[in-house]
Amino acid sequence: MRTVTLNNGVEIPQIGFGTYRSTESSSEVMNTAIKAGYRFFDTASFYNNEEDLGHALQNSGIPRKDFFLTSKCWRTEMGYDNAIRSFENSLERLQTDYLDLYLIHWPRPNLSDPEWKKVSIDTWKALEYLYHCKKVRAIGISNFMVHHMENLLSEANIVPAVNQIEFHPGYMQKEVVEYCRTHNMQVEAWSPLGCARLFENKLLLSLAAQYKVSVAQICLRFAVQEHVIPLPKSSSFNRMKQNQEVFDFTIEARDMQLLEDMPLTGWSGEHPDRERVKKP
Ligand code: A2P
Repeated sequence: MRTVTLNNGVEIPQIGFGTYRSTESSSEVMNTAIKAGYRFFDTASFYNNEEDLGHALQNSGIPRKDFFLTSKCWRTEMGYDNAIRSFENSLERLQTDYLDLYLIHWPRPNLSDPEWKKVSIDTWKALEYLYHCKKVRAIGISNFMVHHMENLLSEANIVPAVNQIEFHPGYMQKEVVEYCRTHNMQVEAWSPLGCARLFENKLLLSLAAQYKVSVAQICLRFAVQEHVIPLPKSSSFNRMKQNQEVFDFTIEARDMQLLEDMPLTGWSGEHPDRERVKKP
């Protein structure tokens, strides 16, 4: 399995399996994903599927050390003590005694809290404590924009290993990615396929035809070439397999440029400082 090395030396697989909204029949989806070869699973307390994932991992008979498990501290679980409790609850639901990666899910507990900067830092201090206790191999953040990261880094002793953000052609968050690169934080992509909103895009369809792959594979290969770790979701074995088959072709520089220059397309409407835009 191809891996990338995080800023603390931990190796992380180059592609992970996203589990958001796989609550219905989620254990079946997780079992299938394991059979399809995924070993890196991205979950969160908010997804309400950690127990199912824990069962699937146990039932697989594959040693725990062969998996790379990420979970996240939800908005209502922020603050020092709450974050530690939230982490312990995730461990219990996942039937494990450590995580490979633990993230702060969103930078603010809610959109109106004037104390969000302090809450964000307190939560980070809890993650630093868990890291020092060796209960988690790497710690990071999710959905942080530049000003949220500046706040965190003003007090952090450990630089986050990862920032997981929405990233796909048509929504690259270039400033965030650039800031992460400068500070040696690995970017991970949620919704690397634009949650199926990109599948009719003309440029993507023409590149898919040109490289003789699917639009999904163009999106995933694009992430890989941008040094971003994609976390695609799928409910079908064949598409799960297909989404890992992105290492036998290379998108040429001029086509990468076309993808980088795409106008806003397929954005989920999620923003860390604003209410969700319903129809972006
Ligand atoms: P399905 O579960 O039927 O495979 P994202 O990860 O960006 O949020 O996108 C997930 C969506 O993309 C799901 O609706 C999933 O549907 C679909 N999808 C995942 N992989 C592929 C693929 N290789 N081809 C087409 N659709 C895909």
